[in-house]
Amino acid sequence: MTETFLETAVFAALSAGQIISDNLGRLSKDDVGLKQVSDFVTRVDKESEACIIRIIRERYPDHHILAEETVKETVREGYRWIIDPLDGTTNYIHQYPVFCVSIALELRREVIAGVIFDPLRKDLFSAEKGKGAYLNEQPIIVSTIAACPDSLITTGFPFRRKEFIDQYLKLFKNVLFKVSDLRRAGSAALDLAYLAAGRCEGFFELGLSAWDIAAGSLIIEEAGGVITDFGGGDDYLSTGNIVAGNRAIQVELLKEVQAVFGGIVDK
Ligand code: IPD
Ligand code: CA
Ligand code: CA
Repeated sequence: MTETFLETAVFAALSAGQIISDNLGRLSKDDVGLKQVSDFVTRVDKESEACIIRIIRERYPDHHILAEETVKETVREGYRWIIDPLDGTTNYIHQYPVFCVSIALELRREVIAGVIFDPLRKDLFSAEKGKGAYLNEQPIIVSTIAACPDSLITTGFPFRRKEFIDQYLKLFKNVLFKVSDLRRAGSAALDLAYLAAGRCEGFFELGLSAWDIAAGSLIIEEAGGVITDFGGGDDYLSTGNIVAGNRAIQVELLKEVQAVFGGIVDK
């Protein structure tokens, strides 16, 4: 039987996850480089990415690839794999145990398969378009908590978009006063996976990249959640600004985001 796209993505994520867990705590100073302020890349990001790309290219030599560290094909016709070989690199460098691999497959601009793998907890989140979302083969759905005061929200700090820090901090404060609590764990892809699995109710972040979001967006939608850009539209893979949640909480979060960022980004 031929391997499905999802099976390829799972195999690639598990293989990359092995590299990541084998190397945890084994980085030398020379293994860590700086792409820009607060933005690191390690030998392991590169080895993980090379492993994933090799697995995909062996099977689908004509597919396009958008991968964070090396191959950046912007063509969005046909099939395109969107890869974050290690999401949460800063955590990984510090052995802070929150990081993962994220792999998605897009067909003509629509994500049709996605996998997020946490190699420490062995949590494998996956989805195929129209077939539901899973955590280690068990179906998952978003949380049913609909009241903001009961909700747990996750976010990320916009360290690449520091020009928006004042607006972001205002939003952070407004949301904090409305919800039960806010978390910034350091891996956007895992934040999205946890939302899909009902471990939190909402998520927002500004200035992400397609590889942080692609797999998570499908897993959330297939788990019954909602994801939009800051304007409430569906251009989040391009803008990198996202508001996600279960249906009730996403609406409330989007109101808060628009009260601060309306007319500034994603109009
Ligand atoms: C980062 C993480 C982080 C988010 C950043 C991302 P990386 O990815 O997802 O949570 O706040 O915006 O860039 O660089 O570790 O792959
Ligand atoms: Ca990332
Ligand atoms: Ca990364």
